[in-house]
Amino acid sequence: MNTDITELNSHFGIEDQVVFKTIHDDFVIVEINNVHATASIALQGAHFMSWVPKGEEPVIWMSQEASFKSGKSIRGGIPVCWPWFGDHSTNSSLPAHGFARTALWEVIQTEALKEDATLIAFRLIQNDANHDGWPYSSELEILFIIGESLRIDLVTRNTGESAFTVGDALHTYFSVSDVRNITINGLEDCLYLDKVDGSVEKKQQIGAVRFDQETDRIYLPSTDDCVIDDPGFKRRIRISKLNSESTVVWNPWIEKSIKMGDLGQDGYLDMVCVESANAADDVVLLAPGEKHHLWVCYSVE
Ligand code: BG6
Repeated sequence: MNTDITELNSHFGIEDQVVFKTIHDDFVIVEINNVHATASIALQGAHFMSWVPKGEEPVIWMSQEASFKSGKSIRGGIPVCWPWFGDHSTNSSLPAHGFARTALWEVIQTEALKEDATLIAFRLIQNDANHDGWPYSSELEILFIIGESLRIDLVTRNTGESAFTVGDALHTYFSVSDVRNITINGLEDCLYLDKVDGSVEKKQQIGAVRFDQETDRIYLPSTDDCVIDDPGFKRRIRISKLNSESTVVWNPWIEKSIKMGDLGQDGYLDMVCVESANAADDVVLLAPGEKHHLWVCYSVE
């Protein structure tokens, strides 16, 4: 990966709008600043770290205890789960949520768009180390359009000779005023797998989703917009998506967040994950030459 800041800025920098820099000595990130918003993205994992529309509270949550280390997933932001969601189906020694979120990505495009938004795209660098549990020839790219809304397109291509199935998710941590006071609409009546009690039988969502305990659910099928209604921040965050049949809703609550150790003091109160996914049975079959776009749009109302 080209992590030379001078070279990155000379090839892909856009004056005052797209600037590459290092944080914590050697962790490379890119900062975006345009008429509508500021944002930052780490090159490791193409991990989106922040999006702050002008005049708004941050929309994406980042843990105060997040560590920015080579090969370690960042707690917060938008981890890219790929090519499987959760545990690997047959080998539990492989990393949860796949390897894309801790792998090296390269910048392939930056552009100041006419609509005053900023486009930036990355490609996962596939090397031998990446192939544990993934013996397929594939390409993975992600494109962000940062502006009044945040649009993301995660594109998987089958570049090999045989078909494969892939699971993926944009594991987005949203920033909320107090998770105990928010609701999530858009999942009413959907069936879900409850990972907290490990139930095999699907349950049904009655009314909006509310939080008063650990919550870890895969809603399937679920394709409608989800809306996080946050009276404390006086805003609604709309999550629209395409080519995703499942939605994961996650908050670790108190005990689990203490065990995890990188959520920060009471961090679980300030965040909720609403993940646009192809998870559990909802995996995508790709024939040779085919591609799959997992697309989302986040906006604040
Ligand atoms: C969610 C899963 O998507 O991610 C949870 O449904 C998991 O079960 C959570 O705990 C966080 O995963 P990780 O690997 O980032 O700690």
